[in-house]
Amino acid sequence: MRKTIIAGNWKMYKTIVEAIELSNGLKREFYKLDNQGIEVVLCPPFTALSEVNEVITESEIKLGAQDCYWKDEGAFTGEVSCKMIKDAGCQFVIIGHSERRQFFAETNDTVNKKVKAALASGLTPIMCVGEMLAEREAGKTFQVLEGHVRGGLRDVSAEDAAKIVIAYEPVWAIGTGKTATPDQAQEAHKYIRDLLVKMYNKDVAGSIRIQYGGSVKPENTIDLMKQPDVDGALVGGASLQVESFSVIVKKASEVVK
Ligand code: 13P
Repeated sequence: MRKTIIAGNWKMYKTIVEAIELSNGLKREFYKLDNQGIEVVLCPPFTALSEVNEVITESEIKLGAQDCYWKDEGAFTGEVSCKMIKDAGCQFVIIGHSERRQFFAETNDTVNKKVKAALASGLTPIMCVGEMLAEREAGKTFQVLEGHVRGGLRDVSAEDAAKIVIAYEPVWAIGTGKTATPDQAQEAHKYIRDLLVKMYNKDVAGSIRIQYGGSVKPENTIDLMKQPDVDGALVGGASLQVESFSVIVKKASEVVK
Protein backbone atom coordinates (compact mmCIF):
# COMPACT_ATOMS: atom_id res chain seq x y z
CA MET A 1 0.00 0.00 0.00
CA ARG A 2 1.39 3.36 -1.00
CA LYS A 3 0.22 6.38 0.96
CA THR A 4 -0.93 9.17 -1.36
CA ILE A 5 1.39 12.17 -1.21
CA ILE A 6 0.32 15.66 -2.27
CA ALA A 7 3.08 18.25 -2.32
CA GLY A 8 2.84 21.96 -3.06
CA ASN A 9 5.81 23.40 -4.92
CA TRP A 10 5.55 27.13 -4.31
CA LYS A 11 8.44 27.85 -6.69
CA MET A 12 9.66 31.48 -6.46
CA TYR A 13 6.44 32.79 -4.92
CA LYS A 14 5.52 34.10 -1.46
CA THR A 15 7.32 36.50 0.81
CA ILE A 16 7.70 35.42 4.44
CA VAL A 17 4.48 37.16 5.49
CA GLU A 18 2.57 35.63 2.57
CA ALA A 19 4.01 32.19 3.30
CA ILE A 20 2.90 32.38 6.93
CA GLU A 21 -0.59 33.40 5.83
CA LEU A 22 -0.88 30.55 3.31
CA SER A 23 0.45 27.87 5.66
CA ASN A 24 -1.82 29.08 8.48
CA GLY A 25 -4.81 28.87 6.17
CA LEU A 26 -3.86 25.36 5.07
CA LYS A 27 -3.33 24.23 8.63
CA ARG A 28 -6.84 25.36 9.52
CA GLU A 29 -8.28 23.45 6.55
CA PHE A 30 -6.38 20.26 7.29
CA TYR A 31 -7.47 20.17 10.90
CA LYS A 32 -10.98 19.68 9.54
CA LEU A 33 -9.98 16.52 7.73
CA ASP A 34 -9.74 13.67 10.16
CA ASN A 35 -6.86 11.32 9.59
CA GLN A 36 -7.33 11.11 5.89
CA GLY A 37 -4.48 8.69 5.19
CA ILE A 38 -2.75 11.19 2.99
CA GLU A 39 0.62 12.88 3.29
CA VAL A 40 0.75 16.63 2.64
CA VAL A 41 4.04 18.45 2.04
CA LEU A 42 4.62 22.18 1.58
CA CYS A 43 7.71 23.33 -0.32
CA PRO A 44 8.11 27.09 0.17
CA PRO A 45 11.15 29.07 -0.97
CA PHE A 46 14.23 28.76 1.27
CA THR A 47 13.64 32.16 2.85
CA ALA A 48 10.31 31.06 4.35
CA LEU A 49 11.18 27.49 5.46
CA SER A 50 11.73 28.25 9.14
CA GLU A 51 8.61 30.37 9.47
CA VAL A 52 6.39 27.84 7.69
CA ASN A 53 7.91 25.14 9.88
CA GLU A 54 6.83 27.04 12.96
CA VAL A 55 3.29 27.38 11.64
CA ILE A 56 2.90 23.67 10.85
CA THR A 57 4.80 22.12 13.77
CA GLU A 58 1.74 20.87 15.57
CA SER A 59 -0.03 19.64 12.46
CA GLU A 60 0.44 16.59 10.23
CA ILE A 61 1.67 18.79 7.39
CA LYS A 62 5.30 18.23 6.40
CA LEU A 63 7.94 20.54 5.01
CA GLY A 64 10.17 20.26 1.93
CA ALA A 65 12.77 22.39 0.16
CA GLN A 66 12.90 22.95 -3.59
CA ASP A 67 16.55 22.08 -4.22
CA CYS A 68 19.76 21.29 -2.34
CA TYR A 69 23.50 21.07 -2.83
CA TRP A 70 25.37 17.81 -2.30
CA LYS A 71 28.10 19.01 0.09
CA ASP A 72 27.45 19.51 3.80
CA GLU A 73 29.22 22.86 3.98
CA GLY A 74 32.01 24.83 2.34
CA ALA A 75 32.81 27.74 0.07
CA PHE A 76 29.84 27.34 -2.30
CA THR A 77 28.28 30.78 -2.45
CA GLY A 78 24.53 30.72 -2.90
CA GLU A 79 24.07 27.01 -2.21
CA VAL A 80 22.12 25.35 0.61
CA SER A 81 23.08 21.93 1.98
CA CYS A 82 20.85 19.03 3.01
CA LYS A 83 22.11 19.48 6.55
CA MET A 84 20.85 23.09 6.53
CA ILE A 85 17.56 22.06 4.98
CA LYS A 86 17.01 19.48 7.72
CA ASP A 87 17.97 22.06 10.29
CA ALA A 88 15.19 24.31 8.93
CA GLY A 89 12.66 21.54 9.64
CA CYS A 90 12.39 19.75 6.30
CA GLN A 91 11.79 16.06 5.74
CA PHE A 92 11.62 16.31 1.94
CA VAL A 93 13.56 17.96 -0.86
CA ILE A 94 12.56 18.36 -4.50
CA ILE A 95 15.45 17.43 -6.78
CA GLY A 96 15.86 17.81 -10.55
CA HIS A 97 12.75 19.86 -11.24
CA SER A 98 12.49 20.57 -14.97
CA GLU A 99 12.88 24.30 -14.30
CA ARG A 100 16.25 23.56 -12.74
CA ARG A 101 17.18 21.28 -15.65
CA GLN A 102 16.08 23.94 -18.19
CA PHE A 103 17.33 27.16 -16.60
CA PHE A 104 20.06 26.15 -14.16
CA ALA A 105 22.02 23.46 -15.99
CA GLU A 106 20.84 20.60 -13.78
CA THR A 107 21.83 17.25 -15.31
CA ASN A 108 21.17 13.61 -14.47
CA ASP A 109 24.62 13.61 -12.94
CA THR A 110 23.96 16.53 -10.55
CA VAL A 111 20.52 15.09 -9.78
CA ASN A 112 22.22 11.83 -8.82
CA LYS A 113 24.67 13.59 -6.50
CA LYS A 114 21.82 15.49 -4.82
CA VAL A 115 19.64 12.38 -4.46
CA LYS A 116 22.51 10.55 -2.73
CA ALA A 117 23.27 13.51 -0.47
CA ALA A 118 19.60 13.84 0.51
CA LEU A 119 19.34 10.14 1.32
CA ALA A 120 22.57 10.22 3.31
CA SER A 121 21.24 13.07 5.41
CA GLY A 122 17.88 11.40 6.01
CA LEU A 123 15.81 13.63 3.72
CA THR A 124 13.33 12.08 1.30
CA PRO A 125 14.13 13.17 -2.25
CA ILE A 126 11.24 13.98 -4.56
CA MET A 127 13.11 13.29 -7.80
CA CYS A 128 11.49 14.93 -10.83
CA VAL A 129 11.54 13.35 -14.27
CA GLY A 130 9.68 14.15 -17.46
CA GLU A 131 9.91 14.80 -21.16
CA MET A 132 9.66 18.03 -23.13
CA LEU A 133 7.02 18.51 -25.82
CA ALA A 134 9.49 17.97 -28.70
CA GLU A 135 10.67 14.75 -27.09
CA ARG A 136 7.10 13.47 -26.74
CA GLU A 137 6.32 14.41 -30.33
CA ALA A 138 9.45 12.62 -31.50
CA GLY A 139 8.30 9.47 -29.70
CA LYS A 140 11.13 9.70 -27.18
CA THR A 141 9.15 9.91 -23.95
CA PHE A 142 10.19 6.53 -22.57
CA GLN A 143 13.79 7.04 -23.62
CA VAL A 144 13.93 10.35 -21.72
CA LEU A 145 12.26 8.82 -18.67
CA GLU A 146 14.70 5.94 -18.68
CA GLY A 147 17.63 8.37 -18.80
CA HIS A 148 16.24 10.47 -15.96
CA VAL A 149 15.40 7.51 -13.72
CA ARG A 150 18.55 5.46 -14.35
CA GLY A 151 20.78 8.56 -14.26
CA GLY A 152 19.23 10.00 -11.12
CA LEU A 153 19.38 6.67 -9.26
CA ARG A 154 22.82 5.56 -10.39
CA ASP A 155 24.53 3.62 -7.56
CA VAL A 156 21.55 4.12 -5.23
CA SER A 157 20.96 0.89 -3.30
CA ALA A 158 17.63 -0.91 -3.30
CA GLU A 159 17.18 -0.08 0.37
CA ASP A 160 17.64 3.65 -0.31
CA ALA A 161 15.66 3.63 -3.55
CA ALA A 162 12.65 2.28 -1.68
CA LYS A 163 12.54 5.52 0.35
CA ILE A 164 12.37 8.01 -2.51
CA VAL A 165 9.44 9.69 -4.22
CA ILE A 166 9.48 10.21 -7.98
CA ALA A 167 7.50 13.01 -9.61
CA TYR A 168 6.57 12.51 -13.24
CA GLU A 169 6.17 16.00 -14.64
CA PRO A 170 5.81 16.26 -18.41
CA VAL A 171 7.37 19.65 -19.16
CA TRP A 172 4.64 20.53 -21.65
CA ALA A 173 2.03 20.28 -18.89
CA ILE A 174 3.78 22.55 -16.38
CA GLY A 175 2.13 25.92 -15.93
CA THR A 176 0.38 25.57 -19.27
CA GLY A 177 -3.07 24.49 -18.14
CA LYS A 178 -2.54 21.48 -20.44
CA THR A 179 -2.74 18.47 -18.12
CA ALA A 180 -1.68 15.03 -19.25
CA THR A 181 -4.77 12.87 -19.64
CA PRO A 182 -5.21 10.25 -16.92
CA ASP A 183 -4.24 7.61 -19.54
CA GLN A 184 -1.07 9.48 -20.53
CA ALA A 185 -0.11 9.84 -16.88
CA GLN A 186 -0.81 6.18 -16.11
CA GLU A 187 1.19 5.06 -19.16
CA ALA A 188 4.25 7.04 -18.05
CA HIS A 189 3.92 6.01 -14.39
CA LYS A 190 3.56 2.35 -15.37
CA TYR A 191 6.65 2.65 -17.57
CA ILE A 192 8.61 4.12 -14.63
CA ARG A 193 7.38 1.42 -12.25
CA ASP A 194 8.28 -1.38 -14.68
CA LEU A 195 11.71 0.17 -15.12
CA LEU A 196 12.16 0.20 -11.32
CA VAL A 197 11.29 -3.51 -11.26
CA LYS A 198 14.11 -4.11 -13.77
CA MET A 199 16.56 -1.87 -11.88
CA TYR A 200 15.67 -3.22 -8.41
CA ASN A 201 12.86 -5.64 -7.76
CA LYS A 202 9.08 -5.81 -7.42
CA ASP A 203 9.04 -4.91 -3.74
CA VAL A 204 11.15 -1.79 -4.17
CA ALA A 205 9.24 -0.71 -7.28
CA GLY A 206 5.98 -1.33 -5.47
CA SER A 207 6.92 0.84 -2.53
CA ILE A 208 8.18 3.91 -4.44
CA ARG A 209 5.50 6.56 -4.73
CA ILE A 210 5.19 8.23 -8.12
CA GLN A 211 3.48 11.62 -8.13
CA TYR A 212 2.06 13.31 -11.20
CA GLY A 213 2.79 17.01 -11.74
CA GLY A 214 1.70 19.46 -14.42
CA SER A 215 -1.42 21.65 -14.20
CA VAL A 216 -3.02 19.62 -11.41
CA LYS A 217 -6.22 21.40 -10.43
CA PRO A 218 -9.23 20.59 -8.22
CA GLU A 219 -11.15 19.59 -11.39
CA ASN A 220 -8.70 16.97 -12.63
CA THR A 221 -7.46 15.58 -9.31
CA ILE A 222 -9.86 12.67 -8.92
CA ASP A 223 -9.38 11.25 -12.43
CA LEU A 224 -5.61 11.45 -12.13
CA MET A 225 -5.48 9.95 -8.62
CA LYS A 226 -7.71 7.06 -9.67
CA GLN A 227 -4.96 5.70 -11.92
CA PRO A 228 -3.35 2.66 -10.32
CA ASP A 229 0.24 3.92 -10.60
CA VAL A 230 -0.45 7.57 -9.72
CA ASP A 231 0.32 7.91 -6.02
CA GLY A 232 -0.10 11.62 -5.53
CA ALA A 233 0.56 15.01 -7.07
CA LEU A 234 3.23 17.68 -7.17
CA VAL A 235 1.22 20.87 -7.50
CA GLY A 236 2.56 24.24 -8.67
CA GLY A 237 0.14 27.10 -9.37
CA ALA A 238 -2.83 25.57 -7.58
CA SER A 239 -0.79 25.16 -4.39
CA LEU A 240 -0.50 28.93 -3.95
CA GLN A 241 -4.04 29.42 -2.63
CA VAL A 242 -5.63 27.83 0.41
CA GLU A 243 -8.86 27.06 -1.44
CA SER A 244 -7.46 25.26 -4.50
CA PHE A 245 -4.76 23.30 -2.66
CA SER A 246 -7.03 22.16 0.13
CA VAL A 247 -9.67 21.02 -2.37
CA ILE A 248 -6.99 19.02 -4.21
CA VAL A 249 -5.98 17.35 -0.93
CA LYS A 250 -9.61 16.60 -0.01
CA LYS A 251 -10.38 15.14 -3.44
CA ALA A 252 -7.23 13.03 -3.44
CA SER A 253 -8.13 11.70 0.00
CA GLU A 254 -11.53 10.58 -1.30
CA VAL A 255 -10.02 8.31 -3.94
CA VAL A 256 -9.89 4.77 -2.69
CA LYS A 257 -7.81 2.29 -4.66
P1 13P B 1 1.83 23.68 -12.29
O1 13P B 1 0.94 22.90 -11.35
O2 13P B 1 1.77 25.15 -12.08
O3 13P B 1 1.63 23.25 -13.71
O4 13P B 1 3.34 23.28 -11.90
C1 13P B 1 3.68 21.95 -11.80
C2 13P B 1 5.03 21.84 -11.21
O5 13P B 1 6.02 22.18 -11.83
C3 13P B 1 5.15 21.33 -9.83
O6 13P B 1 6.47 21.07 -9.50
